[in-house]
Amino acid sequence: MKNSFRKKPLSLLLGEMDGEHRLNRILGPVALTGLGVGAIIGTGIFVLIGVAAHDKAGPAVTLSFAIAALACIFAALCYAEFASMVPVAGSAYTYAYATLGELFAWIIGWDLILEYGVASATVAHGWSKYFQDFIGIFGIGIPKLFSNAPLDFDPDTGLMSLTGAWFDLPAVLIALAVTVVLVKGIKESARFNAGMVLVKVAIVLLVIVLGARYVNPANWTPFAPFGYSGLSVFGHTVLGEPGLGGAPVGVLAGAAMIFFAYIGFDAISTHAEEARNPQRDIPIAIISSLVICSILYIAVAAVVTGMVPYNQISIDAPVSNAFMQVGIGWAQLLISLGAITGITSVLLVMMLSQPRIFLAMARDGLLPKSFFASIHEKFRTPWKSTILTGFFVALLGGLLPLRLLAELVNIGTLFAFVVVCSAVLIMRKTNPEAERPFKAPLVPFVPLAGIFTCLLLMFSLPAENWLRLIVWLLLGFVIYFFYGRKHSALNAIKP
Ligand code: ALA
Repeated sequence: MKNSFRKKPLSLLLGEMDGEHRLNRILGPVALTGLGVGAIIGTGIFVLIGVAAHDKAGPAVTLSFAIAALACIFAALCYAEFASMVPVAGSAYTYAYATLGELFAWIIGWDLILEYGVASATVAHGWSKYFQDFIGIFGIGIPKLFSNAPLDFDPDTGLMSLTGAWFDLPAVLIALAVTVVLVKGIKESARFNAGMVLVKVAIVLLVIVLGARYVNPANWTPFAPFGYSGLSVFGHTVLGEPGLGGAPVGVLAGAAMIFFAYIGFDAISTHAEEARNPQRDIPIAIISSLVICSILYIAVAAVVTGMVPYNQISIDAPVSNAFMQVGIGWAQLLISLGAITGITSVLLVMMLSQPRIFLAMARDGLLPKSFFASIHEKFRTPWKSTILTGFFVALLGGLLPLRLLAELVNIGTLFAFVVVCSAVLIMRKTNPEAERPFKAPLVPFVPLAGIFTCLLLMFSLPAENWLRLIVWLLLGFVIYFFYGRKHSALNAIKP
């Protein structure tokens, strides 16, 4: 049992950076910030804003965006401190290994599959919705059997119902296409990403600038039709009124859902090994990409809720649909194209990050090395785990409903953020002398505020997500006890 709490020494982590089988160091601060923005702006702002405004927060979804941004900024400052201290691939997993011990690290690594793998499936699903919307403008449709996941989640009853479709073909195809690009290599991927990031930022700016001219301030009243709170503890509403089906509603509940829109800034920390100057550039990129996206999101939320009464906001393609509702058809076309591009780049970064976390775990012996740490001779990419990731993203994206996937991703990611914030506090105590090129300001306030706000958002999600998270983590425990504990690379090091 003692073994489960052994920690990976900081010196060992830093020493590993010079070993063999390392990835190429080619990314500078702008490329890294691009990767961050690439991972952030996607399904959240283009799709989930619709449900959040329509069913959870009304025009006050603008405030929901601000609250979720605050939680992320506290967490981002903690990520940045760690990323500057331990600039190796693996993100929160690696940080937990150095501070909280092996079992915790494994649990976080396992939890990050929710953040990256399951998020990719969610995003592939959102991509399919916008793609179908876009081809629909030209009167083209996909046969119903291949247009949707076979199951859908009904939030009113909390039950799954059949949609009549077999699987979501566009979601499967986009996941496979991105896999091919990623196996070929990060340099091509970063370039491909940069183009897409420019397109989507331009489209978001268009939404803000053009949309602002069509805002009718009357649409902002009532501002918070579902109230300002929305907090429930395991299914019992403690603040605010429960919505249909008992799920929390209100500004906080909206923030818990829209939190998905911010996920991705931490993906930058999984690219530390590919950064030219990780100690300086990773913190810069994490914080700047998050700040840029927060400002854009709050502006988009204010504009969209000002253009259309909240109860008429579309659930499937809310941003482009708002322009259709005010009668600017050309903007609808451009925006749906931009959304497809934007969502593709999120998928690219998310699916790029997952194999890198597997890589870090395999190097430590917690996953089979021959598979997860194998780097392609020619492309220098973790190709086997990239293909495995692509396979599962296609499978889940093709078969499971968007809302269920998104909430699961949110609770898993919020949990990882809580651990990273706690780990910063612990590391300051246990390794006060360690070199910290970037220091989170106002410690302990910032990490404690991060823990508090992320927990608040976890409790603002529908209660069944806790159960799903616990089941997932228990499954992780079982795998660790049967595999990781026996194969850990630390077994070879005498205590
Ligand atoms: N933040 C990413 C998105 O909204 C995951 O698509």
